[in-house]
Amino acid sequence: MRSGLKIVVILTILCLIILKPSGPVVFKLTNVICGSYNKTWVIINQCRLKAINRHRTVFNFNATLLHPTSNINVHYQMFQRANGYKPWLINSKIDGCRFLRKPYDALGIFMFNIYKNFTNVNHTCPLQGDLLVKNMYLTTDAMRLPLPTGDYLLAIHWIFYGKPQFATNVSFQFVEDIL
Ligand SMILES: *[C@@H]1O[C@H](CO)[C@@H](O)[C@H](O)[C@H]1NC(C)=O
Ligand SMILES: *[C@@H]1O[C@H](CO)[C@@H](O)[C@H](O)[C@H]1NC(C)=O
Ligand SMILES: *[C@@H]1O[C@H](CO)[C@@H](O)[C@H](O)[C@H]1NC(C)=O
Ligand SMILES: *[C@@H]1O[C@H](CO)[C@@H](O)[C@H](O)[C@H]1NC(C)=O
Ligand SMILES: *[C@@H]1O[C@H](CO)[C@@H](O)[C@H](O)[C@H]1NC(C)=O
Repeated sequence: MRSGLKIVVILTILCLIILKPSGPVVFKLTNVICGSYNKTWVIINQCRLKAINRHRTVFNFNATLLHPTSNINVHYQMFQRANGYKPWLINSKIDGCRFLRKPYDALGIFMFNIYKNFTNVNHTCPLQGDLLVKNMYLTTDAMRLPLPTGDYLLAIHWIFYGKPQFATNVSFQFVEDIL
C-alpha cells in the first residue's frame, strides 16, 4: 500500500515535469494611452488597441512629425501594477538615433524586436513624417524575459533635443505558466 502510494507520487511528479509547457499562457496588450506635449511638432493621429480574439489585441499607432528630428532620447519606465507590493521597476534612457544606427541596450533591443516587424521606423535619423505601428501584437515566442505574472505598464517619453514631445504608455498582461 505504501509503495503503491510512492509510485503514484513519483508518476505524478514525472507527469508534471514532462507535461510542463515552456511558454507563458497569456501575454497581451491591455491598454494604450498616448499624448503629444507639443502639437506644433507631433500630432498623434491614432493610438488604439483592437481586440482580435480572447487572446489577442493589436496596437495601431500613427503619429506625424511635422519637423525632422535627429536627436531623440527614449526614456522608458516599466511598472508592475500591484497592491501593497513594491513595484518591479525599470527606469532607463536610450539614445534613439544611436540605437537606429546600431542597436544597443539589452532591454531596448528586446522591446524593438517586438515592434520591428510592425513599424516603418526601420531606418536611421532624421525621423520625419508619419511614424507607424500597424497591427502589432505580443507573442509568447517573443517573450524571453523571466517576468513574474502580472499587469505591467511600459511608459515611454520621447524627448527631442532635450524636450519631451510625446508619450506612449502601453499596458500589458503577462500570465506565467503555473503548472
Ligand atoms: C504615462 O505614464 C507615466 C507613468 O505613470 C505618467 O507619468 C504619464 O503622465 C503617462 N502619460 C500619458 C500620456 O498618459
Ligand atoms: C515645439 O515644437 C517646435 C517645432 O514646431 C519647436 O521649435 C519647439 O522648440 C518645441 N517646443 C518644446 C517645448 O519642445
Ligand atoms: C496616418 O495618419 C495620417 C493623418 O491622418 C494619414 O494621412 C495617413 O494616411 C495615416 N497613415 C496610415 C498608414 O494609416
Ligand atoms: C518577425 O518576422 C520574422 C520574419 O517574418 C519572423 O521570423 C519573426 O519571428 C518575427 N518576429 C516577431 C517578434 O514577430
Ligand atoms: C522598412 O519598413 C517599410 C514599411 O513597413 C518596408 O517597406 C521596408 O521594406 C522596411 N525596410 C527594411 C530595411 O526593413
